[in-house]
Amino acid sequence: MAARPDVNLAGIHEKDPLRMSNQYSIIIHWRQQGHTFSHKVSEGDYILKSFERKGALLPFNCRNGCCTTCAIRVINGNIDHKEAFGLSREVRSKGYGLLCVASAQGSLEVETQDEDEVYETQFGRFFGCGKLKTGLPIDEG
Ligand code: FES
Repeated sequence: MAARPDVNLAGIHEKDPLRMSNQYSIIIHWRQQGHTFSHKVSEGDYILKSFERKGALLPFNCRNGCCTTCAIRVINGNIDHKEAFGLSREVRSKGYGLLCVASAQGSLEVETQDEDEVYETQFGRFFGCGKLKTGLPIDEG
């Protein structure tokens, strides 16, 4: 894993002179690739989309807050959960968020999840717990 930048994100923001909105420092550690991206995102802009416009192509799939492919774990700051339908309250409380539907509300530092980490955390306990049936449903009778 690449070395993390030595930064203190608390309270770092500035005005975007063209949009007259606040901008916040967002740092994303893509653990599996060993890359760290940082960028200032205008208040209210979707974080994933803003990074993509700057050329940082991060993991995604649905872009609607449902599949959890873009899930991250928060290291510093708070993430916006208003549209994160794919995350349970329990998983949110463990510090996970979804970059595709999170808008910049303040400075933030996050790291990418392991593949399917969030999906397994939410749904893994339900797999393999039921009684296994073989054959076709039409065979039941
Ligand atoms: S890309 Fe599917 S939840 Fe973000």
